[in-house]
Amino acid sequence: MGAGVSSWRLARAVSQLGQLGVVSGTALDLILARRLQDGDPGGYMRRGFDRFPNREMADRIWRTYYIPGGKPPRAPYKSVPTHSKNCPIELQELCVVANFVEVTLAREGHNNAVGINYLEKIQLPHLPSIYGAMLAGVGYVLVGAGVPLKIPGVLDRFANHEPSTYLLQVTGANEDDDRTLAFTPKAFLPYDLPLLTRPKFIAIISSNTLATTMLKKADGKVDGFVIEGYTAGGHNAPPRGKLQLDASGEAIYGERDVVDLGKIRGLGSPFWLAGGYGSPEKLAQALAAGATGVQVGTAFAFCEESGLENSRKHLLLEKARSVTARVFTNPVASPTGFPFKVAELEGTLSEEEVYAARPRICDLGYLREAYTTPSGTIDFRCSAEPVTTYVAKGGKVEDTEGKKCLCNALMANIGHPQVRNGKYKEQPLITSGNDLTEISRFLPSGSFTYSAADVVAKLMSCTG
Ligand SMILES: Cc1cc2nc3c(=O)[nH]c(=O)nc-3n(C[C@H](O)[C@H](O)[C@H](O)COP(=O)(O)O)c2cc1C
Repeated sequence: MGAGVSSWRLARAVSQLGQLGVVSGTALDLILARRLQDGDPGGYMRRGFDRFPNREMADRIWRTYYIPGGKPPRAPYKSVPTHSKNCPIELQELCVVANFVEVTLAREGHNNAVGINYLEKIQLPHLPSIYGAMLAGVGYVLVGAGVPLKIPGVLDRFANHEPSTYLLQVTGANEDDDRTLAFTPKAFLPYDLPLLTRPKFIAIISSNTLATTMLKKADGKVDGFVIEGYTAGGHNAPPRGKLQLDASGEAIYGERDVVDLGKIRGLGSPFWLAGGYGSPEKLAQALAAGATGVQVGTAFAFCEESGLENSRKHLLLEKARSVTARVFTNPVASPTGFPFKVAELEGTLSEEEVYAARPRICDLGYLREAYTTPSGTIDFRCSAEPVTTYVAKGGKVEDTEGKKCLCNALMANIGHPQVRNGKYKEQPLITSGNDLTEISRFLPSGSFTYSAADVVAKLMSCTG
């Protein structure tokens, strides 16, 4: 769960329990830079840095961002360079180290596998991120939000420390335009390193067609699928056909959006079901349908080990307990264009007044779309950036309506909000699956919080 909700701490707790803990690989460069500017409470990042094979590279990053004791609360975080096609070397280094540290910490204290999740909508950081995670021994790479046909080949090449390229999706590009992202491991770690284990690659999909396409056209082995339904937290695949909204403005899903599990079984690959499978009954149902298991998000997002900032986490848990929690499938909020599930909570961007009070600033840029300018170069635009800027870049004004800056909100969700001019503090926008209303089932009696172990114990009670 991005960004930073499935932190190393949560993934480690889940893997320690014998399940597959998955860290979010989204924006780990920025998260690491902010953790260091908060003074690295607990010294965990330092521990991860000390394990990185290139000491000088790790030291450069440490010196750039670490603030002993943390920055003053009203001071802004220092910015991190934004990603682009020819990404600055220091940003690539930050990505490698951040992914390495997150996976290294998640793997501490047990011998079970740890996975990492990336979004195909955020391609620019892919190569240095994947290499950093593989250096730390990541066991599974899970990629959704797009058609990640070229990830398996990257995993194969990086296992041998070979250079790899990745074709950037660019709106309006011609076939022969240069859209190639490149990464050469030896330029960052010029040593004779032992070969790496190629992680298993799991594609996250929401349609039978996409599963078949992945198996037919991917440039390497697809080891399985997570099949994610439209009740899942985070982004959802858009409904098939023309977008229809109900009276409250929520995207309506129907029969055509349900994956045919019979056909999936016929493909012969292992699969896991996601989206409302966080209960013993649903796990039993998934196993009976031939799934290897389930992928659960919402139940873990609100447990003690998750990266969600505690006060908001507890408020939503309380809403769930008092049966007042509500999740809205917002069809327009996300600059990706995908419906995005939002947990309604006072003081967050789920409220119109809070959203209206935010200066429309785009300074993180993870969800920007690459496009070809009239002069043939590649530039980037985000439908949540200032409207005039977006339109000047050829974007349509109607696409900017209701768009929310998820990059800044998601940093606020995990306790790293940017502060602007010492005054405006970025506010959260918390995502959750529809299962939010059910999470009080994990509370041990008399307790107001629950742990990852409580979730796993409850789920596994179906298997006796
Ligand atoms: C807070 C939160 C953040 C999420 N972020 C991501 C993400 O960054 N990438 C992704 O592939 N899925 C993401 N998801 C979806 C989960 O990985 C998982 O598939 C989903 O939550 C399962 O359904 P459930 O929420 O009903 O348990 C997120 C879910 C939640 C609740």
